[in-house]
Amino acid sequence: MRIVLGVGGGIAAYKAALLLRLFTEAGHSVTAVPTEAALKFVGKATWEALSGKPVRTDVFEAVETVNHVRLGHEAELVVVAPATADLIARAAGGHADDLLTNTLLMAHCPVLLAPAMHTEMWRNPATQANVALLRERGVHILEPAVGRLTGPDTGPGRLPEPEEIFAAALALVIPQEGASSEEAAHDAADRLSADRALEGLAGSDLVGRRVIVSAGGTREPLDPVRFLGNRSSGKQGAAVARAAVAAGANVTFVAAHIDVPPPVGVDVVRVDSALELREAMLAHAPGADVIVMAAAVADFRPSERLSSKIKKRDDAADPVIALVRNPDILVDLVRRRDNDEPRQLIVGFAAETGDAGGSVLEYGMAKLTRKGCELLVLNEVGADDAGQERVFGQERNSVLILSRDGGGSERVAGSKDEVARAVVRRIAREVAQRTGAAQHGGTSQ
Ligand code: CTP
Repeated sequence: MRIVLGVGGGIAAYKAALLLRLFTEAGHSVTAVPTEAALKFVGKATWEALSGKPVRTDVFEAVETVNHVRLGHEAELVVVAPATADLIARAAGGHADDLLTNTLLMAHCPVLLAPAMHTEMWRNPATQANVALLRERGVHILEPAVGRLTGPDTGPGRLPEPEEIFAAALALVIPQEGASSEEAAHDAADRLSADRALEGLAGSDLVGRRVIVSAGGTREPLDPVRFLGNRSSGKQGAAVARAAVAAGANVTFVAAHIDVPPPVGVDVVRVDSALELREAMLAHAPGADVIVMAAAVADFRPSERLSSKIKKRDDAADPVIALVRNPDILVDLVRRRDNDEPRQLIVGFAAETGDAGGSVLEYGMAKLTRKGCELLVLNEVGADDAGQERVFGQERNSVLILSRDGGGSERVAGSKDEVARAVVRRIAREVAQRTGAAQHGGTSQ
């Protein structure tokens, strides 16, 4: 694919060099078009060496090739990273004062801008209006990442990581399974934008924190080809991991069986059975600030894993599968935490149904106490009024966030991403309180 990589004049220009490599290593032909200002940060030689193509910034260079017309016209994808406030303003104004803005005007392929600037510049109404205008015209614009900026300041304005821009850019042109390219394009950009648009989490207490999220359903092996599994899709856990990344956390995503791709920007650890999940969680727990157990762990596993496939034989009785209890990973994590790192925050998930013995809330509170975690995200399972199965594999969710210290329960309904953001916001609040309490304790001693 022919890609034009526009580079604006910001310190994050060096990350565009890594992005260029990702594109070329994936077999794409990339023409780098830096602005004059970008060359103050990363020189022409770098772009030429990495792309294997001459680099120009001005429309009056290589005039005989009608470069400014050709580049935009032939491009199958244009990605601009970093897109500075000035470059966004010039693009929104339809300027054509250098080769990059000319190319943007000529392009009729998908265009993705990855902004990077100081938080104040990003939040400035002028920039926001320019972004809104460009989006209205069909330009895809990522929300900037939240985190450490060039100076001592933190907040939204960081260039998303090259891998993230790479994935979002390719999703615009390579249709995802089961979706039209138009849908995929919108989904990818909107999802990333929505995930990053976490007002209230900007500069939150999760920036730079280590968060571990488990997700998906475990598979308990019976023999080499069969397992006992459950219907967890991993969507809610993946959404929590994505929201934590968007809030600036370093996220380890421990994935049992999931029906969705792991979110961009996490470290993925794959596991299969409950025992493997336990091992992975305990291995990653030390030093983590937050642990979220969203995985659906099988309570039981076959008492033995047969080394060869169970055969059906007409003369033999139907097999009986004996089960044994799996360890409770959440309880083990809480125990480890209590011994070693009392500040670690642990969050459980639970799916409950009410019955004659108690309400969903009562069962939820009892489970929270039993497990010893700080927060429990409680799902009500079963069919809803329309007979639709709730929770498993569905896009929407309705949960109660329960807190052990009686900090009040919160009901959240919405898409799994919306629920995830509410959960992450609540986690950030708890982390802030702990940090505040620790600082307070420190000064009073
Ligand atoms: N969990 C766990 N290890 C298990 C079972 C559950 O870590 N062996 C975790 C889940 O990841 C979840 C929480 O515990 O965060 C509650 O899961 P749930 O299945 O509702 O709890 P159970 O203890 O299995 O309760 P129940 O007896 O109601 O099935």
